Amino acid sequence: MPAQGCQLVEKRPVGYGPGPGNGARDAILKFCLISKDGCDSFVSDVSTERDRLDGRVSQGKKGRHVKILVIGGGGREHALAWKIRQSPKAEKIFCAPGNAGMARIGECIDIPAGAIDDLCNFAVANAIDLTVVGPEAPLVDGIVDRFERNGLMTFGPTEAAAHIEGSKAFAKEFMVAHDIPTGAYAVFTSRDEALTYLKECSYPVVVKADGLAAGKGSIIVQSYDSARDAVDRMMTHLAFGEAGAKVVVEEYLTGEEASVLFLTDGETLVPLMPSQDHKRILDGDRGPNTGGMGAYAPAPVITPELLQTIERDVAAPVVNALRDAGAPYKGALYAGVIVSEGQVKVLEFNCRFGDPETQPIVPLLETDLVEVMVAACEGRLADITLEWSEGAAACVVLASGGYPGPSGTGFEISGIEDAESISGVYVFHAATSHVEGKSVSAGGRVLGVTGVGSDLRDAIDRAYQGVAKVSFEGMHYRKDIGARGLSAIEGE
Ligand SMILES: Nc1ncnc2c1ncn2[C@@H]1O[C@H](COP(=O)(O)OP(=O)(O)O)[C@@H](O)[C@H]1O
Ligand SMILES: [Mg+2]
Repeated sequence: MPAQGCQLVEKRPVGYGPGPGNGARDAILKFCLISKDGCDSFVSDVSTERDRLDGRVSQGKKGRHVKILVIGGGGREHALAWKIRQSPKAEKIFCAPGNAGMARIGECIDIPAGAIDDLCNFAVANAIDLTVVGPEAPLVDGIVDRFERNGLMTFGPTEAAAHIEGSKAFAKEFMVAHDIPTGAYAVFTSRDEALTYLKECSYPVVVKADGLAAGKGSIIVQSYDSARDAVDRMMTHLAFGEAGAKVVVEEYLTGEEASVLFLTDGETLVPLMPSQDHKRILDGDRGPNTGGMGAYAPAPVITPELLQTIERDVAAPVVNALRDAGAPYKGALYAGVIVSEGQVKVLEFNCRFGDPETQPIVPLLETDLVEVMVAACEGRLADITLEWSEGAAACVVLASGGYPGPSGTGFEISGIEDAESISGVYVFHAATSHVEGKSVSAGGRVLGVTGVGSDLRDAIDRAYQGVAKVSFEGMHYRKDIGARGLSAIEGE
């Protein structure tokens, strides 16, 4: 309840929490009580009859033009903002911090994605109706909890629910506890115990930092010596900071990897189109892992039957267990899976949309993304059916020379508009900035060129036609994006 002396000025619904029973109908609508002091506001759970409130909350948003804040500045966020812009409901879009491409869609605000206090103050001051959080780090750090305490509707899981990505050891323990298929593993907080275990392992194995490591904390090792080096980097030299103080050692799984994403309101699951990322830097899946060099959708390795199995055996247990534990999961739930002989094992969970996977998925979505995200926040996903275009999409990431190691920045990029003038080609910016009216590279993964076509081959052709128009010094990209999908479809 509000502290004494605070004057209550507004009661704003912010989303659903777990109710006394397990069913959606028992869910409790969470209200934020806004005091005159704005940011110092109070959350209250108000038990109420769901049907009546559904009507009231939906009516409140129906036909209303909303102000949206997109947090992040990569290709994923550009693709989301681009789709959000198409919604007739989107009145004004802010991007924090955004990039040169997002600056053409909305107003870029110079606040980094990790500055939770500043972002919250901005959202309150600008009466943001819906905030979409792109990257995992602020989610794991509790940005959604902070925003919801301030009456801000926010698409993404709370800190407790995002822990499924924030700790790989927690995710593994969770999977075992809930019979979610995954590989064998062991967790260590002592270097000596890890090394004793690794002496007995058969190789390869995967050594992973427990916490977030910007996609660099999972190392596949072929021998004890490499495993010891990986453990030392993580546990002794703290190369990933505190994230590596605990390590997970995993059985190495073989098969075909895929990204299977769901939207959820904490109760209902809505699958997105399955996709496949390309983790390695070089063609033929060689060289070190990267944040992702390209992706395509749909991925034929995930058949409609397999998607149903993954929803039942992987995603539903997560959503149900977190709801029952009082930490309902709202947002995008990403299961990174490996498929071998029709059987699925989970490699990891992510608590947000994938990057680059979002870049080919979003252009194929026909449903209004703002409506879907508001429905997820209001516990109404059961009312939503996603419509997808026929055909396929492929995204080719254009990286800087040296990536995934240190790479130069500040190189002028040419040809973006030429690429965009090709039918079915979309260029999403990942690490770009504007200098004297020109787009320049500003990081490792610079752009994603997505082609949308009548089938996967057409999509890939269009993407590479777009790529051929773009250049910057040191530009590197894979030439085989979607090849696995093509061979599955065409038997090549
Ligand atoms: N147990 C495993 N067996 C085989 N490959 C793995 C395994 N775990 C991870 N990988 C590979 O390493 C990549 C990164 O690992 P992941 O668990 O997704 O961590 P993160 O994305 O946080 O770096 C995966 O996409 C996969 O290609
Ligand atoms: Mg991963």
